[in-house]
Amino acid sequence: MRTPWIVGVSGASGTPYAKAVLGALLDAGESVDLVISKAARLTLLDETGASVRDAHWKDDVGAWLGRDLGSADLTYWPANDLAAGPSSGSYPAKGMAVVPASTASCAGIAIGLSKDLLQRAAEVNLKERRRTVVVPRETPVTRSHLEHLIALHDAGAVVLPASPGFYGAGAEATAQQLIDFVAGKVLDALEVPHSLSARWRGELNAQRSPLGGP
Ligand SMILES: Cc1cc2nc3c(=O)[nH]c(=O)nc-3n(C[C@H](O)[C@H](O)[C@H](O)COP(=O)(O)O)c2cc1C
Repeated sequence: MRTPWIVGVSGASGTPYAKAVLGALLDAGESVDLVISKAARLTLLDETGASVRDAHWKDDVGAWLGRDLGSADLTYWPANDLAAGPSSGSYPAKGMAVVPASTASCAGIAIGLSKDLLQRAAEVNLKERRRTVVVPRETPVTRSHLEHLIALHDAGAVVLPASPGFYGAGAEATAQQLIDFVAGKVLDALEVPHSLSARWRGELNAQRSPLGGP
């Protein structure tokens, strides 16, 4: 039985995090169901120039991810399709990552709003007690956003802010290394093997040694 990870891309800045997570899941041979919110189309367009059209999703998502999706086990569901598979708990799924997660999507998931398929799928994953990772991207934050993050935590989600560390690649880290650091933490939370970033080896300054660095 096909049992995919669901990846929800919401309209926070940070679509490169979503690209890195999707690429790593597909590289690991995982099945993936993708939902891109209406607002995420704007951030995607702003940050990458890519437009995703529901009717041409394979070409458009392939262009965004920079890979041929011919052999990938990737299913795309329009965000307004509330009859889609991931809207039901009986639809098999390993779990879900919302990456990046807007304050709006955090709020909607926290209170069970289910205003679109992304929010409904996240609620379903939480109620089914499946692994759910939420990657908020906003700063500074309001009290209500903090309260929504606590509600998500208490509902069983891993709240994993898009907050890259510099200990893997050092102060000269590239943007891609920082993106991969966050994406690697998401894959760790999903317990999917990856080689996105170097792991701490218990040794200061290791990224400047011959074996160090991602
Ligand atoms: C270019 C752009 C960047 C944005 N960046 C953020 C952001 O970093 N964090 C955030 O919470 N919202 C951000 N927003 C606002 C969200 O897109 C907006 O709240 C939207 O309603 C989120 O809807 P969704 O959760 O259904 O995707 C941004 C919007 C635009 C157009």
